[in-house]
Amino acid sequence: MERTLVLLKPDCVQRRLMGRLLARFEDKGYTIAAMKLMRVTPELAKRHYAEHVHKDWYPELEAFITGGPIVAMAVEGPEAIRVVREMVGVTNGLKAAPGTIRGDFSTSQQQNLVHASDGPESARRELAIFFTDAEIVG
Ligand code: CDP
Ligand code: MG
Repeated sequence: MERTLVLLKPDCVQRRLMGRLLARFEDKGYTIAAMKLMRVTPELAKRHYAEHVHKDWYPELEAFITGGPIVAMAVEGPEAIRVVREMVGVTNGLKAAPGTIRGDFSTSQQQNLVHASDGPESARRELAIFFTDAEIVG
């Protein structure tokens, strides 16, 4: 059993795709163990995207991720970290395979709807940024 952090990014909320994207994880058989609608502050964005803070495109990413509400979720189930990444698809929506969330819903490298942790260490680190232990109830 694994838990991974999924963020429904501001473009997902703005495009009213929350329900459809959440349904993909539920349809797969995964459990939503925690969920909240919230705003990402610049400070939170820098913590979450620590590996990208020094990249030239980081300021645009921060403006995007802080630009509207997001939904943060802990998604739980067997091999959830790898499988959810595969369900999300590669970063650029133009390159993501059909059948993946980004492949089906995004044509953008930045506005790609969903974040998913990329490994066990990232999942642990990122879940702790968005949720206290008590908030993970699944
Ligand atoms: O989200 P993922 O792990 O697939 O991609 P990443 O390379 O870790 O980048 C994190 C996020 O930054 C992406 O999901 C995009 O939203 C954004 N990004 C961007 O704005 N411009 C880029 N050139 C690359 C990524
Ligand atoms: Mg990444």
